[in-house]
Amino acid sequence: MKQSPNTQAVRIQTPRTDQKEHSTPLFLTSSFCFDSAEEMRATFAGELENNIYSRFENPNAQEFIDKMCALEGTESGFATASGMSAIFSCFMTFLNAGDHLVSCSSVFGSTHTIITKFFKRWNIDYSYADLNDPDSWESLIKPNTKMIYVETPTNPGLDIVDLEWLGRLAKKHNVILVVDNCFATPILQRPADYGADLVLHSATKWLDGQGRVLGGIIVGRKDLIHEIYLFSRNTGPSISPFNAWLLSKSLETLDVRIQRHCDNAEALVKALDGHPKLNSIKYPFHPSHPMYEIAKKQMKRGGGLVTFDLKGGLESGKNFLDALEMLTLTSNLGDTRSIASHPASTTHAKLTPEEQLAVGITPGLIRISVGIESIEDIKADILQALEKS
Ligand SMILES: Cc1ncc(COP(=O)(O)O)c(C=O)c1O
Repeated sequence: MKQSPNTQAVRIQTPRTDQKEHSTPLFLTSSFCFDSAEEMRATFAGELENNIYSRFENPNAQEFIDKMCALEGTESGFATASGMSAIFSCFMTFLNAGDHLVSCSSVFGSTHTIITKFFKRWNIDYSYADLNDPDSWESLIKPNTKMIYVETPTNPGLDIVDLEWLGRLAKKHNVILVVDNCFATPILQRPADYGADLVLHSATKWLDGQGRVLGGIIVGRKDLIHEIYLFSRNTGPSISPFNAWLLSKSLETLDVRIQRHCDNAEALVKALDGHPKLNSIKYPFHPSHPMYEIAKKQMKRGGGLVTFDLKGGLESGKNFLDALEMLTLTSNLGDTRSIASHPASTTHAKLTPEEQLAVGITPGLIRISVGIESIEDIKADILQALEKS
């Protein structure tokens, strides 16, 4: 009987050992054994599919991958130690000296650093397209363009890229389309359904959802994932069995957690709409979002992140953080506990005000990762802190 992706995220399980355990054990082992020299030879020769070494594969990693493939609707995957190692492995597997990447400046800060600062070392070229001008993207694709890389919704600007349109564009030019689906999660959006060849995540965020471990994953077309596997088993970004075990358990509750995060985010948006201390509020499913129609088309709900712009700018942003009593000040998101951050004075403080504005960061921008606490407590803390901002 074919099960739904959410049931598969609960039920996919490593085959039971002879201990008859109900919950998957932790395979905390660096390597795996062979019964004979012939079995070992044949496994190394690729004639038999057996576990060899946890840098290559591990049952806990495989369970996490299988659940993510079910959720994202993809054929195959490879799990990594962090979101950044997933992104870096993806770039390094496919981009050679002389190749070109199309992306946009609204990508996660470390991804932006790899593209703009490190790519030069390997003679990899890039062009940043304008998110607000989709017509311009095609003109940036050159004969040596190998990959289009986007994030949607973006961090921290919550901008949206039209995946249906981008999937068609990538196919037309035979370019690999990679989508960072960290903010939406497969519960709200499945980029592979729109033609993304590879979908990746910082599992550190919503997939774990409880702020405990770093992890990453790339899922997608089997032939491409095989290339990533061959590159990664030699270069070593693989996930630890412990983190994979924990992330696989986390996926059992992903759907219920994301629904609650969305319920709370929607209620928070309602409470903040038109607040006198705010210039604006941004949420993918708020009609004032510039890409509201696209968000509605490709996402099931608006997600757990909300941003707003304080009229009082930089100082107000700092005052707001200092006045919070329950929300945590921490540089993470996607946690059961609500988190507030002020990009202009923290993560993006090194950028000039012009550079900040170019990636959608105003001096008074506050990002809230809405947790699953009682919404009344979340609203009360944010509203009292706004009064003091
Ligand atoms: C959208 C996005 N992609 C990638 C990353 C990097 O993930 P990690 O911190 O797990 O390396 C982050 C981290 O915040 C992120 O928000």
